[in-house]
Amino acid sequence: MNINLLHGDCLELLDSLPENSVDSIITDPPYGLSKAPDMTEVLTHWLNGDDYEHRGSGFMGKTWDSFVPGPSVWRRCLAVLKPGGHLLSFFGSRTYDLGTTAIRLAGFEIRDQIMWVYGSGFPKSHNLGRAIDKALGIKPTVIPYAEGDLHVPTSQDAKNWDGWGTALKPAHEPICVARKPFTGSVVQNVLKHGTGAMNINATRVGTETRYNPRSHNKPGGLSLNMSVCGMPEDGVGSLVSGRWPANFCHDGSEEVLNLFPHSTSNGNRSEASRQASVKGTSWLMDNHMSQEYSDSGSVARYFYCAKASKQDRDEGLHMMSETQTRNPHPTVKPTSLMAWLCRLVTPTGGVILDPFMGSGSTGKAAVIEDFDFIGMESDSDYFDIARQRIAFKQNQLHPS
Ligand SMILES: C[S@@+](CC[C@H](N)C(=O)[O-])C[C@H]1O[C@@H](n2cnc3c(N)ncnc32)[C@H](O)[C@@H]1O
Repeated sequence: MNINLLHGDCLELLDSLPENSVDSIITDPPYGLSKAPDMTEVLTHWLNGDDYEHRGSGFMGKTWDSFVPGPSVWRRCLAVLKPGGHLLSFFGSRTYDLGTTAIRLAGFEIRDQIMWVYGSGFPKSHNLGRAIDKALGIKPTVIPYAEGDLHVPTSQDAKNWDGWGTALKPAHEPICVARKPFTGSVVQNVLKHGTGAMNINATRVGTETRYNPRSHNKPGGLSLNMSVCGMPEDGVGSLVSGRWPANFCHDGSEEVLNLFPHSTSNGNRSEASRQASVKGTSWLMDNHMSQEYSDSGSVARYFYCAKASKQDRDEGLHMMSETQTRNPHPTVKPTSLMAWLCRLVTPTGGVILDPFMGSGSTGKAAVIEDFDFIGMESDSDYFDIARQRIAFKQNQLHPS
């Protein structure tokens, strides 16, 4: 297994990789959660082939997060990706449109969107009733609306706006599924480059054996089991293990489970049954990473893994120094989710690139799944943490 970690700006580093050399790109770039820019200005820059520079601070005051990557990064990604290679990129719900527009402008084909749903987000909402109430206690009691237009609030205003806010609770992050265009058929491309398709069997959900009956035996000519086995093209029945992966996954939290009408949080599978079903299903290696549920509820149809646990975030950091034992990255992705994504779009033994590696969760997942990995990160502290987390997993799984 080859692991190549590069410290620096991916815009420059990407030029050092050979064209058509990478099998998949799986990344979690800056979400651009600072003040919304003037869209006409952004798009004018992008359509002219320039970068747009946004000067602001993003999530938790991090300047690297101030704006989504523009088309120039994705153009370089397109060049190094093999024809038919997939790009999976997380985005924030607010800036997904901008992020994917940049990916489209770079020449990618958008294929789908995977929704990752979780229960642990907090709304950043402005409580209007409380804000007005607070203003009442300030002298002079005026709220400037615009120059020369001052509104004098009353206690009735505070009552009227009680219960009003400005934001919803964040509960999902979309993942853009894009692919580098290719010529010829997908079969020709897969045979030539190994890329262009998704590894459905390696990402099936659950472990039960299911039979996909011949489609023409069913009323209406369609398989009743299509969600399990996909639309049968040849009408021939086959046995499969687990359900067809959906473009929806979740964190298994009570909050999300409660959204499903028939959920049963029966996560107490025996260790033997867990071990028997580790590879190619949603049940993942580290017990702490993912919870499990029986297949009796509708929620079990979807891949799930909890948000990154402390153990997952910090694993291996004690090797770095006695003081740096915590991973302080604010946006660590869970390894089991990254591993599922790696398996979905990377051919066996393929090379995965993450140009916005952060603390290295994609790399750690690539090691677990036996893929080669190239990671890029501009921040030296995060780079060191990524190096340690990935090296620890390598040593653990492949001690030399
Ligand atoms: C959202 S974080 C990725 C977090 C990662 N998924 C994890 O689990 O730790 C994005 C990362 O991209 C890095 N970054 C931003 N701009 C970059 C650039 N031009 N080149 C390389 N890295 C960059 C930031 O420093 C940040 O660590």
